[in-house]
Amino acid sequence: MNPGHQPAAVQTPMAPRLDLYAPIHKALRAWMFDTVVAVGRVDGSDEPALVRALAQTEALLQISLSHIAHENDFLHPLLDGDMPGSAREADVAHQGHLRHVARMRQQVQRVRLQQGAARFAELGTLYRELGLFVADNLTHMHWEETMHNEALWARHSDAELAAVHDALVQSIPPQEMAEVLRHMLPALSPLERHGMLTEMRAQMPAGAFDGVLQLAHEVLDVHAWAELLRVLQVQPSLPHAH
Ligand SMILES: [Fe+2]
Repeated sequence: MNPGHQPAAVQTPMAPRLDLYAPIHKALRAWMFDTVVAVGRVDGSDEPALVRALAQTEALLQISLSHIAHENDFLHPLLDGDMPGSAREADVAHQGHLRHVARMRQQVQRVRLQQGAARFAELGTLYRELGLFVADNLTHMHWEETMHNEALWARHSDAELAAVHDALVQSIPPQEMAEVLRHMLPALSPLERHGMLTEMRAQMPAGAFDGVLQLAHEVLDVHAWAELLRVLQVQPSLPHAH
């Protein structure tokens, strides 16, 4: 104990800045990890399991393309407008990801066209390629979450970033949005999930928000679902008795 020591003044933590990357990247990480595990679990002899794993792979590849397009269309022009060339590294990475996605789509077809031992070998190639894709994306997303956010936060208010976010989200077709939410809701922390859904409730027509809640019910575990209902102060609607 040092009686003369004065405790440091408690600093009020700065409110966190609006992070445009964090929620979608959490969804993508979970989606990628799940898909790698799913492909690793099949050997090609259980046809329904294989069909599911390949469909999940193709859905991941498709959402990766959409995600790249959204960043290229909405975030890179903003970064390059502030400081020319600041999105170049990510641009180059995106071009590499597009080529990788094209290769993996062909690999999915090779798996489908083969049988038996040859199919298992093609599955092994797909599994390794997916792993590399995930590794590249982990490095890339970290770059965006640090370097891009730093650049965006230095030059834009949260209100400006929120306007970009809203324009980006409004460009997403409903079916893609539902698929993203399916992976995003269970991947977020409760704090993030509750904040996002509270905001969505304020912005969406009631009927559309009911659809989001229905989706949340399907993908969240019992505890997370109960906590969400408590925070949103929503009464769970019980099935109608017949
Ligand atoms: Fe990106």
